[in-house]
Amino acid sequence: MSQPTNEIACSGFSRRSFLRTASASLVAAPILTEAHFARAAMMSNAAIPEFSMKGVYIDANENPLGPSENARKAIADIIPNGGRYAPPVYFSVIKLFAEQMGVPADHVMIYDGSSPPLHYSSLAFTSPSRSFVCGNPTYEAGQRAAEIAGAKIHAIPLAKDYSHDTEAMVKADPNAGLIYICNPNNPTGTTTSKAQIDYAVANKPASAVVLVDEAYIHLSDATSAIDHVKAGKDVIILRTFSKIYGMAGIRCGFAIGRPDLLKKLENFGQSPMPITGMIAAQASLMDADLVPTRKKIIADTRNNTFAWLKANKYDFVPSESNCFMIDVKRPGKEIRALMAKDQVYIGRSWAAWPNHVRVTVGLPEEMATFQTSFKKAMSTPATAMNERHFVRRSEDGLYV
Ligand SMILES: Cc1ncc(COP(=O)(O)O)c(C=O)c1O
Repeated sequence: MSQPTNEIACSGFSRRSFLRTASASLVAAPILTEAHFARAAMMSNAAIPEFSMKGVYIDANENPLGPSENARKAIADIIPNGGRYAPPVYFSVIKLFAEQMGVPADHVMIYDGSSPPLHYSSLAFTSPSRSFVCGNPTYEAGQRAAEIAGAKIHAIPLAKDYSHDTEAMVKADPNAGLIYICNPNNPTGTTTSKAQIDYAVANKPASAVVLVDEAYIHLSDATSAIDHVKAGKDVIILRTFSKIYGMAGIRCGFAIGRPDLLKKLENFGQSPMPITGMIAAQASLMDADLVPTRKKIIADTRNNTFAWLKANKYDFVPSESNCFMIDVKRPGKEIRALMAKDQVYIGRSWAAWPNHVRVTVGLPEEMATFQTSFKKAMSTPATAMNERHFVRRSEDGLYV
């Protein structure tokens, strides 16, 4: 069965009537993931690669370490049970995650990644009369879903220190439906303090839910906003196993919030969970060394890359996460295209920052290859690149 495209869902008349129809129709709206955005940016390269895993892929905020040893073993061991939907694993992993977060199990919903609850939150809490408020630049998927819901978007520039300007965000619209705070932020890898998040929760319009996307929190020293969920506030937190746990291709994520808020997401869809994703998540949660060990590995590689960038006088935004932005002083897509010729695939640029490129922290040897290719690209004179090489700017102008 073919799925409706964004265009159909968003086109004037049809969008409004579409939104008034049963929520079942909305389930058909596409859930976008980092993989979609990275692929679209790659398609805009002059040199589109033949697909292969050869080359350095530091364009989609993936974790090159992959699933942990314990997670791999758990996946291998569960395969003979792959013919089952496996409700016992479903309940046990939710219970374990809820215990570790310090909330009752009914405050937790499991999904195949955090993209589904991000999408469903936008659909559930925004509408033509309830806007979506976010930082700029930030991760695009929530905004895209809010556009499908017909919501007005208030994209508030990040503060000077690259945190979310939560004071401006809460003032953006007295009828806001969803305030999206990505902490640490994708693409900048910068954090927003707990005090700033507390401010947003205390001062938000009564109509708004605060959605704190903690996809990258384990990579940083940022403080989780989980205490607001425990206090019964209008706050939902998202967690994914795609980042520090290295399970982007295996899939598992969670939404944490008051049961009545989670119930609203359920109206838009739920994830049939792969047994492999659930068992790998459980094994990862039971491994107390995993988070600190990987946090250090990724931070060491990131900081070595920052030292090299500094020594070579390249401007970048200091990040606490597995991605960072470099100011390449020309349209980012030029550098992306030049590096793609070396099979080094870096991330996209955002419309708000067209001269920055996002780079994901890879393995040390991948970052060595990155350095060679980046230096070569930056030494190539900037040109007015031939636009015909670029398939398109994103339809909504969110990235270039
Ligand atoms: C900020 C943020 N939130 C959510 C996601 C969704 O990740 P996934 O669906 O793989 O869990 C991503 C993916 O990169 C992300 O960067």
